[in-house]
Amino acid sequence: ALGACGSDDSGKTDSGAEVVKAGTLTVCSDVPYPPFEDFDKSSDTGFKGFDVDVVVEVAERLDLDIKIQDSSFDALQSGTALNSGQCDIAASAMTITEDRKKNLDFSDGYYDSEQSLLVPAKSKIAGIGDLKGVKIGVQQGTTGKAYAEKNAKGADIVTFPSDAEMFQAIKAGQVEALLQDLPVNLDHATGGEYKVVETYKTDEQYGLAIKKGNTQLVEDVNEALTAMREDGTYDAIYNTYFEV
Ligand code: ARG
Repeated sequence: ALGACGSDDSGKTDSGAEVVKAGTLTVCSDVPYPPFEDFDKSSDTGFKGFDVDVVVEVAERLDLDIKIQDSSFDALQSGTALNSGQCDIAASAMTITEDRKKNLDFSDGYYDSEQSLLVPAKSKIAGIGDLKGVKIGVQQGTTGKAYAEKNAKGADIVTFPSDAEMFQAIKAGQVEALLQDLPVNLDHATGGEYKVVETYKTDEQYGLAIKKGNTQLVEDVNEALTAMREDGTYDAIYNTYFEV
C-alpha cells in the first residue's frame, strides 16, 4: 500500500494491527520515572530511559515511526488513555496485574521488579515497621500504593500524581519515606542523600500495555521482544541501565 512506511492509510500496520496514527507507534509514558523514562532534549524522541530504548527498538522492528508523549500514570494503568485512542502502547514501568488485565492487554513481561522503602540518609526509619504515624509518599494508581495500604500499618499515606512530586515532597520534608518500585528508589539514592532501607519481594513484571482487544499489536510486539532477547539487543539495552 502507498502512504507512510509500514502501514496503509487506514491506520493498519503491515501485519494488520491497528494504530491510532498511520505509520506511527504512538507511545504514552509517565515521565520522569528514571531509569525507565526521562526527558532528553538531545534524543530523537525527546525522551530517554530503559523503556524508551525498548519501545524505540520495537517500533523499528514493526517498521513504524515512533512518537512518545508524557501522560498521567493513573490514566495509563486504568486503561483510559489507551482505550480512548490517545496512544497505542503504554511504556511506563507498568506492572502486569490481573486487575489491569480487565481493561488492558499486556505484552510479555520485559522487566522484573519489586517494591522498596526510601528514606533520607540520616533517617532513623529502618523498615516498614517504623512507619506508625509517619507520613509516607506513594504514587496514585501504583502497585506501591497498594502495597503500602496493605502493609504499612498505621502510616499516614500521602498520594501524589507522579514520582517527581513524591521526590519533591521528601526533599521538602513533607513526607519521611517513599514506597515504590526498587529501581526508581535506587536511582533516587545514587546521590547519597537517600537510602533504600528495605525491599519487598512482590515478583512484579513490567509489560507494555496495549488497548484491550488489539491482539494483533500484542502479537507483533511480543515477536519483536522475543527477537530482541534472541539477538542480544535486549541485553545490550539492559546493560546500559542496570549493573549486571
Ligand atoms: N510498577 C508500578 C506500577 O505498575 C509503578 C509504575 C509507575 N510508572 C511511572 N512511569 N510513573 O504500578
